Amino acid sequence: MRMYDLIEKKKCGHELSKEEIYYIVNGFTNGDIPDYQMSAFLMAVYFQNMTMEETVNLTMAMAESGDTLDLSAIEGIKVDKHSTGGVGDKTSLIIGPMLAALGVPVAKMSGRGLGHTGGTIDKLESFTGFSTVMPEKEFIKQVNDIHFALVGQTANLAPADKKIYALRDVTATVNHKSLIASSIMSKKIAAGADVIVLDVKTGTGAFMETVDEAIELAKIMVSIGTMAGRETIAIISDMNEPLGHNVGNALEVKEAIEVLNGKGEERLTKLSLTLAAYMLVGSKKAENVENAEQMLNDVIKSGKALDKLAEFVSCQGGDEQQVFNPDKLTIASKERKVSAWDDGYLAACDNKEVGKASLALGGGRETKESEVDLSVGLIVHKKLGDKIKKGELIATLYGNSDDKLDEAVKCIEHAYTIKNTPIKETPLIKAVITKDDLS
Ligand code: URA
Repeated sequence: MRMYDLIEKKKCGHELSKEEIYYIVNGFTNGDIPDYQMSAFLMAVYFQNMTMEETVNLTMAMAESGDTLDLSAIEGIKVDKHSTGGVGDKTSLIIGPMLAALGVPVAKMSGRGLGHTGGTIDKLESFTGFSTVMPEKEFIKQVNDIHFALVGQTANLAPADKKIYALRDVTATVNHKSLIASSIMSKKIAAGADVIVLDVKTGTGAFMETVDEAIELAKIMVSIGTMAGRETIAIISDMNEPLGHNVGNALEVKEAIEVLNGKGEERLTKLSLTLAAYMLVGSKKAENVENAEQMLNDVIKSGKALDKLAEFVSCQGGDEQQVFNPDKLTIASKERKVSAWDDGYLAACDNKEVGKASLALGGGRETKESEVDLSVGLIVHKKLGDKIKKGELIATLYGNSDDKLDEAVKCIEHAYTIKNTPIKETPLIKAVITKDDLS
């Protein structure tokens, strides 16, 4: 078999066999297939697509490309969640502690920032000393002890995805359904959870801009999960503006803490509770979503969820004082304000531009080697539909360089549209897809 022939085959729109897909994935993982050939292959997939069978084979080849986590030593039904990526999405930082405080084992493997969206690992590293590197034995012990552990994608877990994900990020091949579905599901399957809840974003800041596309992606992922014997549920949620107010690593951690303190922004709180409620039902600790939401609200009110975050941060080497006193998190010292240039209503947000502002400040990765500045980001003070007066504050940007701040200000000015007529509120949750919705 030759990689050249397989690129040609996909370029011409033909279906690849299981053997061919495993050849590509294994060859790229062990270094026999170079980046330039894999890039060409990914671009061919981007334009010619993959059948469901090819997508399942790609997922399983990536899931089997390294070690798979055996979580059988953890008591109870193990739950996991994954988001297809969005701007200001910090729900994992909120959900993990809430569920763990209710005794649900959360054994989570997360990624770093990709393109204009952030990653949970980068966010957590805003806590001084926090580490997501730990041996499997320790990971399992921590889940048994405190019900929550979170590790980065180590070299041994789905290494093929790790390499492919980094290459897609710099070759404009991120936003493709089969590639996203196989990337996410390979990690989820390798990470061993029994129940997988997926947050599939739709809107201007998401890889899937329309609800129909998001539903299609969700169905591919639910099919893969079901075939792999995992209970898989997908929530389709709005990403037409940042989730919550804060974008950028340390700033997002601060906002997650606000939710766990019972003072979170409404839509961020609602989505976190919804995702966690489906996970709680999947874990069999709650009978239905309504019960589950009540239990989650209680665990916030009692302070147990916040205490659990502190315990988790401390167990992974971080400074738990930053949980109880988030002003101790490092935020960049230079500031710029963006104010409304007209009277009216905040009518639209090109959320990718908001993501780009954070990227311009240094809060994300331009290339796979880029260093992330955890202290930079922005706070958006207004939400879509809000009435606004000329001169009123839309956003505050935090950075460490005047040039970068100037660039980011332009992104925010491009991102928002002010109109003189009110707009209808977009629902936060657009659909829920389970295996019963697959035709
Ligand atoms: N998140 C992932 O893990 N993979 C993708 O391809 C996109 C978002």
